[in-house]
Amino acid sequence: MTDSTPDTHTPTTTRDADLPTTMRAVRFDAYGDRSVLRVDEVPVPEATGDRVLVRVRAAGTNPGEAAIRQGAMAEQFPATFPSGQGTDLAGVVAAIGEDVTQWAVGDEVLGWSWERSSQAEFVSVPEGQLVAKPRRLSWEIAGALDVAATTAYAAVRAVDPRPGETVVVSSAAGGVGGIVTQLLVAKGVDVIAVASDANHEWLRSVGARPVAYGDGLEDRVRQAATNGIDALIDTHGPEYVRLGIALGVPAARIETIIAYEAAAEVGAKTDGSVDAASQEVLAELAGHAADGTITVPIVATYPLDAVQDAYAELEQGHARGKIVLVP
Ligand SMILES: NC(=O)c1ccc[n+]([C@@H]2O[C@H](COP(=O)([O-])OP(=O)(O)OC[C@H]3O[C@@H](n4cnc5c(N)ncnc54)[C@H](OP(=O)(O)O)[C@@H]3O)[C@@H](O)[C@H]2O)c1
Repeated sequence: MTDSTPDTHTPTTTRDADLPTTMRAVRFDAYGDRSVLRVDEVPVPEATGDRVLVRVRAAGTNPGEAAIRQGAMAEQFPATFPSGQGTDLAGVVAAIGEDVTQWAVGDEVLGWSWERSSQAEFVSVPEGQLVAKPRRLSWEIAGALDVAATTAYAAVRAVDPRPGETVVVSSAAGGVGGIVTQLLVAKGVDVIAVASDANHEWLRSVGARPVAYGDGLEDRVRQAATNGIDALIDTHGPEYVRLGIALGVPAARIETIIAYEAAAEVGAKTDGSVDAASQEVLAELAGHAADGTITVPIVATYPLDAVQDAYAELEQGHARGKIVLVP
């Protein structure tokens, strides 16, 4: 090999020949309801240094994005305007920076953006925030996987479940809860899955034991838990942290991804997506989604222009699985 001969880690192409200079991307200029969301024509981001430009095939939606856009999280996660939106992404590598070693133009990838930028035709992220898309994984699932699956992974890890234990999961058929439920079932855990009747058949199909929420929930859980309850994972709100305490679950084995104040009051755990964000974890979860260990139902797909409609459906709060934007 001569000095000018590329080795296998040095891609010969750093830029897709068809790359446009502008793209369509979700933007908003002020906190507010869904009506502040729009799609703008903006410059395609650069891929320099260790960054990779991905032509987005699918970008998931998450309730946290709606909370940020409404200003409900302005203290912890302030927005700067104009703001983009979106963490989850899947697509095809369109250009790479000069320091990129892991990816080449044309690679199919999924990953995440920390910059609220994935709901666009192109997104630029550091190369360490991407993993290879398994061939069997659909674009829609790949593009909706990161936040929900890494959060579910973190939540399950936080309660350290062992085979044969009984774990209660709230919102057990939601974007995060549905994956929590299936990761627990795969570990041999008996899952008591709290959800409305409409989700019970699906929850049984993935190996969980559904229980309806509403009045009398504590009694129904006690009746279902003939061997006691070892842990509780909440993906809905503070009433489930309190339920865990009422059921006698030790605080160290109660985990919530949303009820931070209630967790602080009782000493429960609050691990979330940032605690599990890594290439290794996302690659493992993508493998689980590809081999059927976890199923991720796609509730609906929307074109970028219908971003307000996508969040209207999400904000109803009863999705079983993921709502995805397809630029
Ligand atoms: N900490 C983190 O890193 C992190 C990451 C992701 C998400 N989150 C937060 O976690 C929460 C869940 O996220 P997600 O993406 O899973 O949301 P999601 O998919 O929108 O959740 C929808 C689910 O909520 C269920 N639900 C509605 N009312 C309920 C109730 N009273 N009791 C129990 N379940 C109920 C629905 O079930 P039914 O249809 O059966 O009613 C539906 O399956 C959100 O607040 C989100 O902001 C935190």
